[in-house]
Formats: sequence, C-alpha cells, structure tokens
Amino acid sequence: MKYKNKQLTTENTNFQSLAKKFGTPAYCYSYSKLKENINNFKENFKSFSPLICFSVKSNTNLNIIKEIKKFGLGADVVSKGELMLALKAGVNPSKIVFSGVGKTYEEISFAIEKKILLINAESKSEIQEINKIAKQKKKIVKVGIRLNPNTDAKTLKQISTGKSENKFGVNSKKFYELVKYCENSKNISLECLSVHIGSQILDHKPYERMLKAVSNIINKTNYKFKFVDLGGGMGISYSDKIKKLNYKKYNSAIKNFLKKHDTKIIFEPGRSIIGNTGTLISKIIYIKDGGAKKFIILDAAMNDLMRPALYGAVHKILPVNKSNNVSKNIYEFVGPICESTDKFVTLKKFQKLKEKDFIAICDVGAYGMSLSSNYNLRPKPVELLVKGRTIKIIKNRQKHTDLI
Ligand code: LLP
Repeated sequence: MKYKNKQLTTENTNFQSLAKKFGTPAYCYSYSKLKENINNFKENFKSFSPLICFSVKSNTNLNIIKEIKKFGLGADVVSKGELMLALKAGVNPSKIVFSGVGKTYEEISFAIEKKILLINAESKSEIQEINKIAKQKKKIVKVGIRLNPNTDAKTLKQISTGKSENKFGVNSKKFYELVKYCENSKNISLECLSVHIGSQILDHKPYERMLKAVSNIINKTNYKFKFVDLGGGMGISYSDKIKKLNYKKYNSAIKNFLKKHDTKIIFEPGRSIIGNTGTLISKIIYIKDGGAKKFIILDAAMNDLMRPALYGAVHKILPVNKSNNVSKNIYEFVGPICESTDKFVTLKKFQKLKEKDFIAICDVGAYGMSLSSNYNLRPKPVELLVKGRTIKIIKNRQKHTDLI
C-alpha cells in the first residue's frame, strides 16, 4: 500500500474509489502481496521443499483458497466445514491435514472418505475413535500424533498452544505410549509427528527449542516418521516497531534437524501468508467529543474485526486521504457496538479527521473476516480481491434479509 497524490492505494487502485463503489466496511485483499508472501515463504525453506498447507482458519474465503491452491499449496483444516471448503476450492486431498482436539465421529468419517493426507490426532481417545471408524470402513488411515513440547512460544498467552497447561497435543510420555498403541492398531498407519506451539511468533528461539524437543522424542521412540509437521505460527509486523521473525535462523535450525532425521517437513502457515494482504476500509459515521479525547465512531466494529477486543491486538490505522493537517486531539477509534471493548486503538497523533472520511485498518487478512460475527445483528462486510486492474467481489456483503 502506498500514497499516490495523497490517496492511499493498493495495486494502483485507490481505497476511496473502492469505498465509494462497494460501500463500507469492506475487506480488500491484494493479490500481488499474496503472491509475494507465498513466494517468499517457499524461498525461505527451498532447500528442503516442505509441503506447505495453508491454515484455512486464518481466512475462509473460497476465492482466496482457490488462489492459494494455484501456487501448489495444500490446506490445514480444523473442522468438516473447513475441509469441505478446501475440497471445493480444489485443494488436492493428498495435501490436506486435519488438526484439532475435538474431531467428531462425523468429521473423522468424512476425512477418511475423502482420503486426506493426515489426521493429526491429539489424544488417545481420538486415536481409538479413528481406529474404530477405520475398522468399520475397512480402511487403513494415515495419522499423525500432535506433541505438546511444553515450549513457551513467547507470544500472547491467548494464542500460545505448546505449553503443558494448554489443551493441545500430548506430552512426551503420552506420545511414546501412543506410538506403541498405533503400532498395534491394525487400521492405523502412523506417519507423522505434528507440533504447533502458537501464533504470531517473532522470535526464532522457541522454534529451536521446539525442534530440540521433537528431535529428542523421535530418538526416544525410535520410530521412523514419514512426516514432521511443524505447524505455523510465523508472526508478521503489525507495526513498524516490531522486529521480524528471522527466517534464516529458523531455516538453519530445521536443516540441522534434518541432518539427524530423514523426514518430509510440513508447514501450516496462516497469518504469514494472508495477514498483510488484507485491509478493512471504514467510514467515519460521527466524531464525538469525549472530553479528554475524541471518539472516532466508525462503521466497522468488533464484529467485523475481533482481534483488538479479543486479544488487545493493535492494527495500524491509516487515513485514506492524506493531509498535513495534524489534529490537536487524542483520537479513539471505536465501532458502533454496545460494548466498551468495541474499540480499535487510541492514538495521540493523527491527521485531522472529519465525519464521512474513510480510514484503512491494516493487516487484517488473517483472523479478520474468519473471526467475524453478526453480533448486534450486523451484516458481514463485502470482500474484494484487487488483482492488477481487476477488482473482484469475492464475497457479497450480507443483507439484513440473510439474517432475519
Ligand atoms: N496450525 C495449527 C494447528 C493452528 O492451531 C494454527 C493457528 C495454525 C496452524 C496457523 O497459525 P498461524 O500461522 O496463522 O499463526 N485468532 C488468533 C490466532 C489463533 C491461531 C490459532 N491457530 C489471532 O487473531 O491472532
């Protein structure tokens, strides 16, 4: 995104014209950024050509998954709905992995019928259930076991998944037991060790510790895993101050790991592929004087973008039309929802704004629309994909009649 003649643009299209044509709030994705992210991701790990399974939970737009699939990526899914979506987008089942602590009978059956690459199981009960269903269907099912390596990902506690207090995976003792259990289960073929320690990780050291834990457990079990699925979690820069993840160091830690273990690496990235491709365009409905600060009341709210209310996440806000007129007021950007947490950010310095101006909330491609809701019976925003000169509606704005 850059300013051209003081107008914020993406791929030469200015956000003001998009806002006027398609209305607000509107999610808008940049195809060229998506392509750049995928190519960079592949380049970072090219020496061992991993299988990259896009984490569908981060963005569940069918057209986005279709575009991602064209780059040869697979999918990481966590529900029957996500699996159906990935299949509808044309993702090859042999590139789909299924994670999650609570897969139901119906979900497991569906995954088996669709012959996906792996069901990454997270408990003994789940493995027993998979074995039972596979037996009924007279099939041998390929599974992974998710290890909880008790590694601190040094990220927000709400999005940490690899510590012993988290519900995900099994500890090393249990893992060892489950390997034995799988070896004795006729309808299970154990092919993968999976692990995912959290999201928005910006320090490579937790990944190094995770690899060490994985290496130790493989040595201890003395089992030959065809795949090691390292999950996702690679963080992005939501602000200019945030230090980027050192991919070189993560890559070399994996290369060292591969010297000791002959296996195929799987990744499940979400945010690092789609996060910075998305922008939420919103219009200022009112500006309300709140004494010490001014409330900039937007037409986008926590139902459209939940991350600030849910995690205290901060997304950069940019004016769609730039001016040099700096405001003397503190601005608090809020939505119209009847909750005090319906607030995006408070800024001490911003250009002077007026009612009906448009603003852009940045880096909302991951866990933006996918976490949205209809709270306060608000219809979900339109989604647009900007690809060079073409602008495509990739999801219509919901109508009130869809909801009532
Ligand atoms: N694999 C598994 C098993 C996961 O649980 C997740 C994310 C991913 C892969 C993808 O992680 P990523 O590369 O996107 O970091 N709603 C939160 C993030 C929750 C992440 C949940 N699991 C947020 O808005 O920050």
